[in-house]
Amino acid sequence: MSEKSITDLSSVHRPIELANGLPNAHYTDPSIFAEEAQAVLFNEWAGLGVTAEVPEPGDALPVEFAGIPLLMLRGRDGTVRVFQNICRHRGMILVEEPRKIEGAIRCPYHSWCYATDGRLVSTPHVGGPGTNTHAGVDRSTLGLIEVRSHIWRDVVWINISGQAAAFEDAMAPVIARWAEFETPLYHGGDDSRFDLKVRCNWKLAVENYCESYHLPWVHPGLNSYSRLEDHYHIEAPQHHSGQGTRVYRQLQDDVGRVFPDFPGLGPKWDTAAEYVSVFPNVLLGVHRDHAFVILLMPQATNETVEKVHIYYASPDSDASLRARNTAQWKDVFVEDLFVVEGMQRGRTAPGFDGGRFSPAMDGPTHLFHDWVAARVENYRTQEKAAE
Ligand code: FES
Ligand SMILES: [Fe+2]
Repeated sequence: MSEKSITDLSSVHRPIELANGLPNAHYTDPSIFAEEAQAVLFNEWAGLGVTAEVPEPGDALPVEFAGIPLLMLRGRDGTVRVFQNICRHRGMILVEEPRKIEGAIRCPYHSWCYATDGRLVSTPHVGGPGTNTHAGVDRSTLGLIEVRSHIWRDVVWINISGQAAAFEDAMAPVIARWAEFETPLYHGGDDSRFDLKVRCNWKLAVENYCESYHLPWVHPGLNSYSRLEDHYHIEAPQHHSGQGTRVYRQLQDDVGRVFPDFPGLGPKWDTAAEYVSVFPNVLLGVHRDHAFVILLMPQATNETVEKVHIYYASPDSDASLRARNTAQWKDVFVEDLFVVEGMQRGRTAPGFDGGRFSPAMDGPTHLFHDWVAARVENYRTQEKAAE
């Protein structure tokens, strides 16, 4: 067993003028990675995927979430559910690759079969050759283990512990913030999704996304029309943080065509756009004419996969304009890679004390650190009480 580390997080909670960021171990130590997985990824509502990844009944997508094998599955009834991707018999992984389930999910080991709603429906030879039932194997108690889930903004949110508040309550601040955007979202399809493999801890991606301070140097292209001073902070303590701009310029093609707007938006959105990190691992962006989701999939202390999905107001947006929009965002997100990867490498320097925040510019970042620290401390208290 590896030694379990305990970090002192008290300085993270100080007022921003005096606070430090999370200690290095929160970016480099596997035991802290595992502790944070429990405290913030499993105990809270986290993003697993989007329903557009399983568009049709029977579509099954295996996804590993911080080490847990899960299965996102659209049932015959059209409902998207999340299950632990294991057979209740001997724990075999059920689905290895994305595929369409025709009929039932058959375990490749001894052929126990599950319906797409999770029920165990057949157990061949379980009572001996030719006998498919046994009094000791009660199928009604051996369905797939379902993970609590909820769909919002096409994101499949999961709460692995089952202990978080109801989704609508837990997410009330951000749902209220973007109430105007509660209109249908249409995924742009294959040209509107991409993954980025990033050599950094997942939290660095959150921290970088929620601040605009870095724009002039990391995103000179964006900054040329939406300047640092056009941005404002978004701060919902203990919940989400981010940044908005008052200057959003729509993408146009050569003849001046643009994407259609989401219906019913107020005048603010003629020129504004907002980018919010919904803690722990979902980064969202909204604009008058498109929205995006970035799911951060933590792989290891220093490895994360960013899964990007872009959405429009109509199901038949122009494909070439969509491709340009995807390319433009990909360029921006790739511009961020050297800083999140550089900060990750910086966290092996023993002299780094978590760093200091600009009281004027780093409020959203500090707010995230404060949230993580509080969740981890809470978890430690509960663990101690349970000992
Ligand atoms: S492990 Fe699945 S049927 Fe045996
Ligand atoms: Fe950035």
